[in-house]
Amino acid sequence: MTIAIDLTALDYRTDPWPLYERLREEAPVHHVRGGAWDGTDFYMYSRYDDVAEALRDKQLYSSQIRQEDYLNLPMLVNRDAPDHTRLRHMTNQAFNARLVRTLGDWVQDIVDKLIADVLSQPRVEFVEAYTTELPLRVIGGMLGIPLDRKASLRRWSSAVMNMFAVAAGMDPDEAPGFFEDLVDFGNYMGEMAQARKGQPNKGDILGELVVQHEEGNLTRDEMVTMAWSFVAAGHETTMNLLGGGFKMLLDDPALAARLRAEPDRTRDYIEEYLRFYAPTQWLLRRTREDIVRHGVHIPRGALIHVLLGSANRDPRRFDRPDVFDINRPGNAAHMGFGAGPHFCPGAALSRLLADRSFRAYYECIDRFSFDPADPPQLRTRQGSYGLARMPLIVSQ
Ligand code: HEM
Repeated sequence: MTIAIDLTALDYRTDPWPLYERLREEAPVHHVRGGAWDGTDFYMYSRYDDVAEALRDKQLYSSQIRQEDYLNLPMLVNRDAPDHTRLRHMTNQAFNARLVRTLGDWVQDIVDKLIADVLSQPRVEFVEAYTTELPLRVIGGMLGIPLDRKASLRRWSSAVMNMFAVAAGMDPDEAPGFFEDLVDFGNYMGEMAQARKGQPNKGDILGELVVQHEEGNLTRDEMVTMAWSFVAAGHETTMNLLGGGFKMLLDDPALAARLRAEPDRTRDYIEEYLRFYAPTQWLLRRTREDIVRHGVHIPRGALIHVLLGSANRDPRRFDRPDVFDINRPGNAAHMGFGAGPHFCPGAALSRLLADRSFRAYYECIDRFSFDPADPPQLRTRQGSYGLARMPLIVSQ
């Protein structure tokens, strides 16, 4: 039986799990005719092993999705070796786990200030007040963007996310002005980098990028798009984890009580959350050769929708995958951060932000309740799973 796929359908964006199950069982490589933005076909991979192959095997699959148009930006995420290897090496230097570990006190300070602010108001829109603010302040700070440009940074972050969505087929009219905002961000980062030239490196990411640029390892465009990548790739994804994770604590007081009693289980909670509700639901790849999988012939150059969210619920890999269980053995094998050479370089940072946030909220979680007149709403951007709004009442 054919499974109808409408990437624009609201159901697919907010409750894709039943469809994923059908795909895994009935059509592990699902051929969607004429479904891509340019009217060409695409294929969907829904089982864990196939998803892992598509992400890990760089001989067979390419990350360079848009090849000949204005969206073919020199970004880490859509480059293959050798460009990717070079850019990735620099990213790892800027983002290594040691650097992230040294950020702990600074992050804690931001978390504490934001929570104090949230608690001081009788009503808050949590996405606006907390989940947007925290990653934006941290990543903006690491890039050396001053707080007074926060409003611009939000606009820029959204523009980069929209650029990815448009590259994956969203109608650009759904995101008016995104390209102008991108250019604006590029110019700003270019000016900041210019101002830093010849100055001592302050040890932040921008400083690292400027050094690499001055040493001739990075072009200006690469430097700017690298900054875009961090803001965009790190902002909405982390928001989805923070907002969804906080909502789950409110929905499940027993879980919240257990974590309050055993805060060291927070890392398990985070991993299981990322498995269960992957903030990035799917990625794109292109085949480099003709291949046959599960009896389906896939031509060279075909577009593949790699369904991380489905791989994470594959019963072939995770026992009782639709049960949320922080005791699940090996839950960190989830695909929430991808796999292979493009594995998320921001994983340690986002784990740090979530860990500090959840631990701080266990203590005051009883003061929050949902607003019955204004329930939480999910985001509807393609490929992204998380909260768009969550109005809360805060007891004073
Ligand atoms: C919960 C939070 C996060 C999730 C779920 C997430 C998810 C992902 C995934 C699935 C990929 C793989 C993309 C691919 O293979 O095509 C990725 C790559 C990437 N992420 Fe994250 N991410 C998160 C946080 C962050 C943060 C905080 C940053 C940086 C500030 C970041 C920066 C990046 C970059 C630069 C890439 C591209 C890496 C490459 O292509 O080599 N991410 N992320």
